[in-house]
Amino acid sequence: MASVKSSVKVWKTAATRLAVLIVIVLQPLGLGAGWPQEPAAPLRIDEEFVKQEKIYRSQGGDVPSGYVTNRGLSDYAGLLPSGFCDTLGRLGSLDRWLDIGAGDGQAILDYYGGVDDAAPTENCARLGAKARAVAMSIEDRRTDKWQQLAVSLDDDRIRYLSGKRLRGYSREELGKFQIITDVYGGFSYTEDLSGFVERVLRLLEIDGVFYTLVQNVHLEGGKDNPKPWYQTDLVDAGGRGVKVCSWLKKTTCVKVVCESKSDWDSPTELINIRKVCSDVSVPRMKLLQYQAGNPPGRRFQLDP
Ligand SMILES: C[S@@+](CC[C@H](N)C(=O)[O-])C[C@H]1O[C@@H](n2cnc3c(N)ncnc32)[C@H](O)[C@@H]1O
Repeated sequence: MASVKSSVKVWKTAATRLAVLIVIVLQPLGLGAGWPQEPAAPLRIDEEFVKQEKIYRSQGGDVPSGYVTNRGLSDYAGLLPSGFCDTLGRLGSLDRWLDIGAGDGQAILDYYGGVDDAAPTENCARLGAKARAVAMSIEDRRTDKWQQLAVSLDDDRIRYLSGKRLRGYSREELGKFQIITDVYGGFSYTEDLSGFVERVLRLLEIDGVFYTLVQNVHLEGGKDNPKPWYQTDLVDAGGRGVKVCSWLKKTTCVKVVCESKSDWDSPTELINIRKVCSDVSVPRMKLLQYQAGNPPGRRFQLDP
């Protein structure tokens, strides 16, 4: 027994020393509080991907408190750029709405279920014909309410896709959409930002709109001071900061409008991208850093 106790003690001491060593070695690199000066070894990024996967798959009490999956339509109305509700409310029964990173799919449930008295959403879910809606999530978070509504509606009017990321679907499988939304979904979580945006834009009809947001970034309005670090940090080939909207505005065949919310707790850019012609091409970014979280910390560099 004594030898078990002493080996536990030895192990604990060794573990403590290792932890201290990790702190001493990693802190000057800025890990935890910010980004290292040099790109991390791929192995570390792989470890972060594994941690991120655990967040996606978490259920019940294991879901981290910051990983919110049940925002309703009124939350979407308050978070997405102005004009979202009106555009959604104008869609007809032949139109299609894709919500990427839909979580429980509550926004679509509200749209179909008729949101009660929430003023900001009355234009989003006007009475009458509704667009077909597709919810996409890596993990399946369908609720009983979702299952019941899906059964009660004819003709596949709402669909829930899960089991893979946006990049796992072909364009033929998904078809085209008049509106694509993303509220703390793929845009905030992907490790391939330029590929993600290009795929989204290819799924839009001409004149269709992608509504999204991203927090703790270099804001177009300039008044950002994210503490202690930019959660989504874009840099050019020389390592200088690039604003997410300046980068998006270099995309061909789109019109980008940004609304900077510098006074929100987490300074946030609201982004509206309208597709105006079909030959969409997004300037490439490569991933330099990824730190698992809700949303993750990411650093990307523009290809020269
Ligand atoms: C924090 S939840 C947000 C859920 C919902 N939009 C809300 O606000 O309640 C993140 C969602 O994004 C999804 N997600 C992240 N990256 C994705 C990707 N590349 N493709 C599809 N879904 C993605 C996750 O699976 C999850 O459903």
